[in-house]
Amino acid sequence: MKSWFLLPLLFLACCCHGTFSCPALCKCYISPRKTEVVCNEVPLTQFPSYGLPSNTTSLTIQFTNISSISEQHLTATPLLQELYLYNNNLSTLPSDLFRGVPHLFSVALSDNTLDQLPANVFSHAPLRDLVLKNNLISGVDADWLPDNSNLTWLDLSGNRLTAVPTALFQKLRHLKNLDLSHNHLEKLSPNSLHPLTKLERLTLEGNKLSTLDVSTFSNNVNLTHLFLLENRLGQLPPTLFHGLPNLAHLSLNDNLLSHIPPGLLDQLHSIDEQGLDLTVNPWVCDGKVEYLWRWLQKNQKKVFLVNDIMCASPESLKQRSVMSLTDSELGL
Ligand SMILES: *[C@@H]1O[C@H](CO)[C@@H](O)[C@H](O)[C@H]1NC(C)=O
Ligand SMILES: *[C@@H]1O[C@H](CO)[C@@H](O)[C@H](O)[C@H]1NC(C)=O
Ligand SMILES: *[C@@H]1O[C@H](CO)[C@@H](O)[C@H](O)[C@H]1NC(C)=O
Ligand SMILES: *[C@@H]1O[C@H](CO)[C@@H](O)[C@H](O)[C@H]1NC(C)=O
Ligand SMILES: *[C@@H]1O[C@H](CO)[C@@H](O)[C@H](O)[C@H]1NC(C)=O
Repeated sequence: MKSWFLLPLLFLACCCHGTFSCPALCKCYISPRKTEVVCNEVPLTQFPSYGLPSNTTSLTIQFTNISSISEQHLTATPLLQELYLYNNNLSTLPSDLFRGVPHLFSVALSDNTLDQLPANVFSHAPLRDLVLKNNLISGVDADWLPDNSNLTWLDLSGNRLTAVPTALFQKLRHLKNLDLSHNHLEKLSPNSLHPLTKLERLTLEGNKLSTLDVSTFSNNVNLTHLFLLENRLGQLPPTLFHGLPNLAHLSLNDNLLSHIPPGLLDQLHSIDEQGLDLTVNPWVCDGKVEYLWRWLQKNQKKVFLVNDIMCASPESLKQRSVMSLTDSELGL
């Protein structure tokens, strides 16, 4: 009886406390510490300014047709911390976009049509995560970011990059996770990754890398995951992976490796069980395969699908697993 009586009072209390509002076509989730707005797969063509709660902390607009966003749009939500704009129709961003959102730390703009971006576009907010995956970016400019950037995660995968400027990485001394997969990179300049001393995950999968300089990773001592699969790597310097004491995962599958130089895998003491992938390479099973053959025998557990590391030649050993070769077949 009592609670029935209280109900209308509660209702009044809720509605008179502040002005609860939410943009048309969007959903708002309000909790004591977070105000989250989600506009998902709705026929928006413009930023949903009207009705956006001024204390919004997280805003997601995805699978819509919005094609622009401005500083004024975001100034209306000065407490914004997370901005997720996936699968929209954004082709550029204004340089001042983030001037009015001093708490913004996470931005994702995956699956838009971004190409050229102006100087300082990411300089005005204390970003830690920046995801620009699956756009049309053909060149990254160091001046997109501030000098003392706090980014720990940068994802530029699925773009059209042919190079990455060393000057960019010089600004990213806190970076832990860098994804450059599925671009058109043909080489990395020998020192470009040197400023990234905190890097833990590096994804270079699906590029056109054919060689790597011996000192490419020499400063990335904290690297735990290195993805080099689906490139055109044919020859690797013997000490390329020396000085990576924490490396737990290394994928070199789908490359053009016919041999690896003696010593290459010697210092990979931290590799996880099945953490090394060498499959889908055209291994030549002549005397020079001896180093790989011995290493595999000793470290089987560390290798992913160890029996699928196959000889591509000579003809007589084609399709044989490297592991299964005998001393006499190798001419030892
Ligand atoms: C945001 O505003 C709404 C409506 O005034 C309020 O109910 C909510 O508690 C506020 N949230 C925060 C995090 O201040
Ligand atoms: C976006 O525009 C395209 C083409 O006009 C249309 O087919 C699609 O349904 C629109 N998307 C949404 C979520 O309204
Ligand atoms: C996407 O944006 C472009 C302008 O950048 C515009 O011409 C086009 O109509 C937009 N497409 C949709 C489906 O809204
Ligand atoms: C990075 O973080 C430090 C410490 O929180 C802060 O002083 C600095 O302004 C931040 N840099 C940027 C570009 O936000
Ligand atoms: C590497 O990681 C360890 C453990 O997380 C940390 O103490 C050390 O400072 C890191 N080194 C660098 C260069 O960031």
